[in-house]
Parts: sequence; structure tokens; C-alpha cells
Amino acid sequence: MRLPAAYDSAWLPRLTTPQRGTSHRGDTATLLGALWRNPRQIGTIAPSARALAHVAADVVPTTGAPIVVELGAGSGAITDVIAARLPPDGRLLAVEINHDLVRHLSRSRPWLQVLAGDAAGLTHLLRDAEVDRVDAIVSALPWTLLPAGHRRRILAEIGDVLAPDGIISTIATLTAWPTRSCRVFRRQLGSVFGDIQIRGPIWAAVPPAVVLNCRKPLHG
Ligand SMILES: C[S@@+](CC[C@H](N)C(=O)[O-])C[C@H]1O[C@@H](n2cnc3c(N)ncnc32)[C@H](O)[C@@H]1O
Repeated sequence: MRLPAAYDSAWLPRLTTPQRGTSHRGDTATLLGALWRNPRQIGTIAPSARALAHVAADVVPTTGAPIVVELGAGSGAITDVIAARLPPDGRLLAVEINHDLVRHLSRSRPWLQVLAGDAAGLTHLLRDAEVDRVDAIVSALPWTLLPAGHRRRILAEIGDVLAPDGIISTIATLTAWPTRSCRVFRRQLGSVFGDIQIRGPIWAAVPPAVVLNCRKPLHG
């Protein structure tokens, strides 16, 4: 008996191979393991909610051949949404500092180019990947847990690699929003980017969060 087309053996590899845009078993457990070992580096109690990931990934161009960088990819919650949105000629590079999460991303998402290292060395990481201009950056870095000097270095690197008409989205939780550290971070963001728009709150996220979309100031 012949199988219906949808079950033909030619489809089997597609059914068993993880595809761009799907989430993966072990994502949450791996993130929680990393959180247990290094809470300040991870800075969250769960992978980003799908609704939050969609708003953060909204800055990813859907046409052309954009180069997109994700900072602090974690266990891939936002990565998958970015990948699903990226046009066929687009390129996604995921920067992650935690070795366990780098290993998990590389194993669970063989299609993803993972750059292991600190976002404060973004220019070098990208140069090794032969990238010198980025069209969009999506960040879920735990900004308010980083020392102000470290934040400043990362923001300067972002400013250096982002194309003049590029855009970055970054997440801020409502629990962190009123803290001094977040106020300082927002001032630092304002000194690099002229145009900052706030989207949300996204109440489905735990904790609820906003997304800040930032562009460089227009000159001339
Ligand atoms: C709040 S978690 C977000 C994880 C994932 N993007 C998500 O939304 O579920 C922050 C991530 O940033 C990573 N991270 C923290 N500091 C970093 C740095 N300086 N450079 C690169 N990644 C960093 C952490 O290891 C962690 O995976």
C-alpha cells in the first residue's frame, strides 16, 4: 500500500530534524541549570514567553538579506522566533557568554551560528565571523545586573557595529524598571540612541516586560 503524500518517506527527515523556528526539548531545563549555577549572569527565571519574543523580534527585517545579531540567546526562546521571521537570504548570529548554553544552542539548533563570548567584545566576535555591519540586534541581556561600565562597553560596541539605519530591540522587565540600575541603563541607552520607543507592557511575560526599540540619531 502506498502512503499518502504527506507520509511519504521523503518527508521523514523533515519530521525528525529540528527545523528553524521550532522550540526544543531541554530548553527550559538547560536555562534553569545555568541559572542555578550562575544566577546573576542569566538574570531570568524562565525562557522568554512567546508573546514577548514576538515583540522583541519585530525589528527583524522580513525582506532582503539582513544581518541580525541576538545578544544573550540563552536557550533559544527568542532565537527561534527571529529565525522563523528571517527571510531566506538573511543571516542570524547568536552571541552567548554561558558555555552550557552555547553547547545547548549548538546541539539543538545546528542551523544557528553561535558566537561564544561576551557581548562587550561584539566587534571582535563579529570580525571573526566576517561581519562588520549589522542591520538589527535583538537583546535580552540582563542589563540591570551588569555593572554600569560593562553596560557602557556593550552599548559602545553595539553603536559601532549597527548600520546607520539599523535598529536594536531590548527587553526590560517591569520589576526592574523603577530601580536605580534601570534608570541609569535608560540614560545610557539615550546617550547612544536618539530615538527610543517603548512597546508593551507584555503582560503574558513572567515577569511582565516592555521592549525598547532604539535607533541611532539622524545626522545632517
Ligand atoms: C535573561 S537571559 C535571556 C535568555 C533568552 N534570550 C530568553 O529570552 O529566554 C540573558 C542571557 O544573556 C546571557 N548573557 C549575560 N551576560 C552576557 C554577556 N555579557 N554577553 C553575552 N551574553 C550574556 C546569559 O548567559 C543569558 O543566556
